[in-house]
Amino acid sequence: MTASTVQKQHALVIGASSGIALALIEQLLSEEKGTQVIAVSRSSCPDNLARNQRLHWLVSEYNETAIDNVCQQLLEQGKINEQYIDRVFICNGLLHDDTFTPEKRVEELNLEVMQQVFHTNTIIPALWLKALRPVLLGKSTCHMVFLSARVGSINDNNMGGWYSYRASKAALNMLLKTAAIEYARRTKNVKLIAFHPGTTDTPLSKPFQKNVPDGKLFSPEFVARQLLLIIAQTPVDGALSYLDWDNQTIDW
Ligand SMILES: NC(=O)c1ccc[n+]([C@@H]2O[C@H](COP(=O)([O-])OP(=O)(O)OC[C@H]3O[C@@H](n4cnc5c(N)ncnc54)[C@H](OP(=O)(O)O)[C@@H]3O)[C@@H](O)[C@H]2O)c1
Repeated sequence: MTASTVQKQHALVIGASSGIALALIEQLLSEEKGTQVIAVSRSSCPDNLARNQRLHWLVSEYNETAIDNVCQQLLEQGKINEQYIDRVFICNGLLHDDTFTPEKRVEELNLEVMQQVFHTNTIIPALWLKALRPVLLGKSTCHMVFLSARVGSINDNNMGGWYSYRASKAALNMLLKTAAIEYARRTKNVKLIAFHPGTTDTPLSKPFQKNVPDGKLFSPEFVARQLLLIIAQTPVDGALSYLDWDNQTIDW
């Protein structure tokens, strides 16, 4: 990122290698208003995006020092072009990997798995929430979207299972609700959104797609388009919104 590339209308995408994040990045880059995208991921930039002049891809881990380093860079850019980020997307999420699947029974609860899932789904987004506040605070509005999930709704939990994933997303929602109360006082220009994308065709949902009803497995491109439309229609009102892909409010 150089001073000459800085303009208004920057979007920040964290967890940028996620299926949903990559679709968001492509659509943001194609916006007519010339949006610039800052992407943060543990992985390097995919070849098809590497030459895009409006994309600034930062490879980073998600420990506190690494997050602070990224935010320091963003603050430096902010000195040149004050409060220039108007949309943030935190896409990190973990449901399964090569070593574990979501729990069906209480006997399957495992300390290491729970820590890993909570770390990715709850703690990493919370660290970004903290570190980004000084970057986003300002006079212009900013929408900050956290990829949550409907299964994080306590009210909606009629099926059970997926203990760690559900609980980590419910905890994320509670952190955001708490932050929204504080932000209504201290960071009024930032709107917080917990977003459920619907079941989306990415590596995260791959093992669980066979029972999805026809027409209910969304492409990342569809979800990205919906999310960008929803943001454009959502006022900055000092409250946390918990919204699905259809812009419907989800019960807590
Ligand atoms: N797909 C669905 O059906 C669905 C449904 C409901 C909610 N969601 C939520 O939507 C978000 C995006 O999901 P996706 O489907 O696009 O997932 P995905 O393609 O599997 O991407 C996984 C994301 O999580 C990050 N991640 C994975 N393991 C991590 C770890 N150990 N530490 C830190 N970051 C880690 C990756 O970041 P890097 O870029 O650094 O690799 C990447 O952003 C997630 O929060 C997910 O819970 C998805």
